[in-house]
Amino acid sequence: MKRTTIFLISLFAITLIMTSCGGGSQPAAADQSAVKAAGPYADLPADIQAMMPRGEEIYKTKCTVCHQVTGLGIENVFPPLSKADYLLADKVRAVAQTLNGSKLDMTVNGKVFTQEMVPQVDTKEDAVAIINYVLNNFGNKNGFVTLAEVQGVEIKPRKK
Ligand code: HEC
Repeated sequence: MKRTTIFLISLFAITLIMTSCGGGSQPAAADQSAVKAAGPYADLPADIQAMMPRGEEIYKTKCTVCHQVTGLGIENVFPPLSKADYLLADKVRAVAQTLNGSKLDMTVNGKVFTQEMVPQVDTKEDAVAIINYVLNNFGNKNGFVTLAEVQGVEIKPRKK
């Protein structure tokens, strides 16, 4: 009787060792996180990442002339987009200004800007793409804005 018990315990132990070492089909948790995309936009949602090439193209063709390649603008004339407190305070406003232009006395990083910016793009898709590009370049790492968030923005009629 005692020998049978020892035998059964040994059998149980052997089975336990074999099953725990045997089945290696489950991928380790570490392998899954390694799948995450690399690159400067890796922590943004995929649909936002997909807008970046368009945003970059618009920036290079339309914005650099005033806001400069660096995003630093021109002192007292064109405000910075790089680490700009005004821009970062309201992403939806930034999209609206890119769509409809802006003619305000605005204070950006402590400096006042009074020149007019005319409308820069014609669609919300383009405006959102360019602002997301700005939010993640020029030293900015400030999240993103979605098309849904700018649903309420009105595209004003263009001056002829
Ligand atoms: C012809 C010059 C010019 C061009 C081109 C231009 N801007 Fe501007 N931008 C300005 C001026 C001037 C202001 C300040 C407007 C005001 O005082 O109301 C401004 C302000 C802004 C602001 C708000 C201020 C800030 O620092 O956050 C944003 C955002 C902006 N521009 C984005 C853009 C984007 C994006 C483009 C390219 C699609 C662009 N601008 C192209 C001249 C320009």
